Amino acid sequence: MENNDVTQQNTEKRKRVFSAIKPTGNPTLGNYLGAMQYWGGMSDEYDCLFSVADLHAITVAIEPKDLRENSKRLFALLIAIGIDPQKNILFMQSHVPAHAELSWLLNNYTMFGEASRMTQFKDKSKKAPENVNVGLFDYPVLMAADILLYQADIVPVGDDQMQHVELCRNIALRFNNKYSPTFTVPVGKVPTFGARIYSLSDPTAKMGKSEGAGDGTVFILDKPEDIMRKFKRAVTDCDTKVKASKDKLGITNLLTIYASLTGGTVQSAEREFENADYATFKARVGEAAVERLRPIREKYERLRADDGALLGIMKDGADVAARLARRTLEKVYKKIGFVRL
Ligand code: TRP
Repeated sequence: MENNDVTQQNTEKRKRVFSAIKPTGNPTLGNYLGAMQYWGGMSDEYDCLFSVADLHAITVAIEPKDLRENSKRLFALLIAIGIDPQKNILFMQSHVPAHAELSWLLNNYTMFGEASRMTQFKDKSKKAPENVNVGLFDYPVLMAADILLYQADIVPVGDDQMQHVELCRNIALRFNNKYSPTFTVPVGKVPTFGARIYSLSDPTAKMGKSEGAGDGTVFILDKPEDIMRKFKRAVTDCDTKVKASKDKLGITNLLTIYASLTGGTVQSAEREFENADYATFKARVGEAAVERLRPIREKYERLRADDGALLGIMKDGADVAARLARRTLEKVYKKIGFVRL
């Protein structure tokens, strides 16, 4: 039963959580309310690993200076939103070479057909037909490597990533069946509340994180005056009632944002704004966002003021992650039949 030790360990110990976020664009209020706000508290219940997926970032065109800046920015921001590097394993993906190694190995247990069915690959190919590179196609295999290296039980993701977690499960099962139990088969989890925040200027589209997203997107690190302006300009409708409904997508989105910011429900927010006009309502949602994001921005700025210290935190996280990752990777090499030194 020696092959089962990881599985057994994990049932006795706390469950392990892995998630990662790409350093492309600038994290938004939608990213925060949809997923990131829950990450800091998870270490109370789980052993958590969080990674900045910089290797994934180069599957789309990105300038070196942007990759560098986005990576540092995201790393510092993850700490600022509450991921304590003392209580979590927080690291940059490219600092742990095992990710690239395992993803090569897993390529050989991933079928071209199943990878071809990934809707994100099809969408991204359509968006940038001049750069449909092999890395973009291979993206979900690298993501599977991220997860499987750490024997993660739970993978919190946005619902657009669930198909990738499914693929990861299939790769793990295939490998386990061919050799012997090697990988924990993870479960993807989409947060049940606040999972989807839409653009303030087009509430039929997701709040996008590209820099040119305009006033529809509130960034976590936006200045208070920018946050207020964006909320005040938010698209509503020609009705006057602050009520959620299918034909009032703008108002529904604002109610969802308010509920998520204040820890209430859409219903309690509707009651609170029963007699409010749209302008008052929008300003109140903006103020709630400003207050919630202020301490995050302040902590972020302190972290960015000392680059050496930030790199030190990265190094500590990578050392711990690399040790865990090596254990899985060695097993995988051996099972496949590689000669090890
Ligand atoms: N692909 C994920 C996204 O776009 C980011 C990611 C990379 C990830 N590796 C992961 C998420 C592993 C969960 C687990 O959001």
